[in-house]
Amino acid sequence: MAVSKQIVPGFPASAHGAQRAVTAPELGTLAWLERSQGRLTFRDRLSLIAGLFGAIGEGIRLGRHARRSGRREVPLDPFEPPATPMVSAARGYLLANCGEPMANHSFRTAYWTLFVMNQHIEVTPVLLETAWVAALLHDVGLERPGATGDFSSAGVEVLKALAREHAWGDEQVHGASEAIVTNLSMRVDRERSGIVAWAMNVGGVGELGFPAHRRQMHPDRIAELERRYPRRGFRLAARKLIADEARRVPGGRFGFFRWVFPIIMKG
Ligand SMILES: [Fe+2]
Repeated sequence: MAVSKQIVPGFPASAHGAQRAVTAPELGTLAWLERSQGRLTFRDRLSLIAGLFGAIGEGIRLGRHARRSGRREVPLDPFEPPATPMVSAARGYLLANCGEPMANHSFRTAYWTLFVMNQHIEVTPVLLETAWVAALLHDVGLERPGATGDFSSAGVEVLKALAREHAWGDEQVHGASEAIVTNLSMRVDRERSGIVAWAMNVGGVGELGFPAHRRQMHPDRIAELERRYPRRGFRLAARKLIADEARRVPGGRFGFFRWVFPIIMKG
């Protein structure tokens, strides 16, 4: 008897074993990271530059969509971290290994991710938990890098270790891993990488301070979020960590983006 694999809404097709006609892994994806160890080719660099223009257009479209959706001012409370073992473990790792500026940035990134996601899809408990775990761990590799690979490899390794300890499901592991790895991409393919990865990318750009993407959240909600998790010291801490990562992985994404971040990053 044939067994069909159930497709869980919001998770990447590759998590379900679906086949795609792909000749090379798309830049910034988990498959790309596994093959490249985070090092960019010349073609990758051209693709990042081209992606910048697409990202600006996408941000403008998403800002308009947010205003029309009527969900730009909804309360933050429904997106609070769920009390699950995996979220507690990810939060514990973050707070034990990262300073306050990056920890607060990670908490804000989770809210931005879920706030944006809610404008496009119903936020289920599984998506809520997956987004929180991904956001809490997405930058831990900057302060606790691994022996090889870029900062996102280190984040994925932590995620996998915690997932083994807490028997977290494969689809959530894949969805969160893809979100951690693709976060530092100009654009993320929602169909290929999943809703968590996509929302954490476009929401994360808003959190950093890029004006087009920032319009996805009402200014009053942004102010409330930044009162809960202040931006104090974030710009300075991030600049130092990005410079460290650029030295550690000179051909990597932060080596390439290092000069862009101070321009787009809000203090
Ligand atoms: Fe980040």
